[in-house]
Amino acid sequence: MLAVVTGASKGIGKATVNLLKAEGYEVVATSRSEPEVGDHRFRLDVSNRAEVEAIMGKIKSEIGPIDVVVNNAGFGIYGSFLETSIEEEEYMIKTNFLGPIYVCKTVYPDMVKRRSGSIVNVVSEAAYVNSPVLLVYSSTKAGLASFTNGLWVEARKYGVKVSGIYPGPVKTNFSSHPSFKGREITPKYAVEPERVAKAILKGIRTGKREIYVPSKLLLDPYFLKLTNVMQEFTYRIVDKFSL
Ligand SMILES: NC(=O)c1ccc[n+]([C@@H]2O[C@H](COP(=O)([O-])OP(=O)(O)OC[C@H]3O[C@@H](n4cnc5c(N)ncnc54)[C@H](OP(=O)(O)O)[C@@H]3O)[C@@H](O)[C@H]2O)c1
Repeated sequence: MLAVVTGASKGIGKATVNLLKAEGYEVVATSRSEPEVGDHRFRLDVSNRAEVEAIMGKIKSEIGPIDVVVNNAGFGIYGSFLETSIEEEEYMIKTNFLGPIYVCKTVYPDMVKRRSGSIVNVVSEAAYVNSPVLLVYSSTKAGLASFTNGLWVEARKYGVKVSGIYPGPVKTNFSSHPSFKGREITPKYAVEPERVAKAILKGIRTGKREIYVPSKLLLDPYFLKLTNVMQEFTYRIVDKFSL
């Protein structure tokens, strides 16, 4: 089984590559900088559609058909909307929201033809709870959540699994963007990236629409779960009656 992971140079992506390899997958790791793990490694900036199409095409022609895609690449910009820059926000929207769509466009039609495959998108709790210091970041994740839920409905008809992963705080390099200016926002109750990697594996195997990864406080997912229960009900209806 061939799996492609984006944003694989560190954090959740790197942990996911290691777990998938341990589970017997042949793994293609991609990120802007050269990934350190993975059976095959490519430099890929997911914000650039032409680059996504070229690299995904190369993977398919030189390595083989893609069974699994993990859209993990992403980053956040910290600060009030008054102080953040539109150029950086545009780049973040392309990376976090358009990037997964570009990648899916290159693999989903093949998966539909084969009536198999798994797409897992790493979203965030921020999709449902917008933080004023991560305002546009949260909006990119809300967009990704909506895309993932809609694709879940469509893909089910063709035997393709789609899953969204919703982590709370995770101990990674997420706060390394210059806008954080040393404001380390990873709290003590953040979980290890390996915990998210396990949730990603579950998403690959089950195609569960939304998978929450609770912080060690264990409170956040319960509030979100309330939203999720209503959503699950709504999406089942959409799935049943959509044309
Ligand atoms: N950490 C958290 O608390 C948390 C919580 C919820 C969701 N998430 C989500 O989890 C995902 C992974 O983040 P992380 O926490 O593991 O952060 P991280 O340690 O900073 O890793 C981010 C990864 O994304 C890559 N990346 C960033 N921009 C990219 C681009 N334009 N094209 C390709 N790769 C790009 C980075 O590699 P290069 O710099 O080499 O490209 C790196 O491998 C993100 O989507 C993030 O939004 C994180």
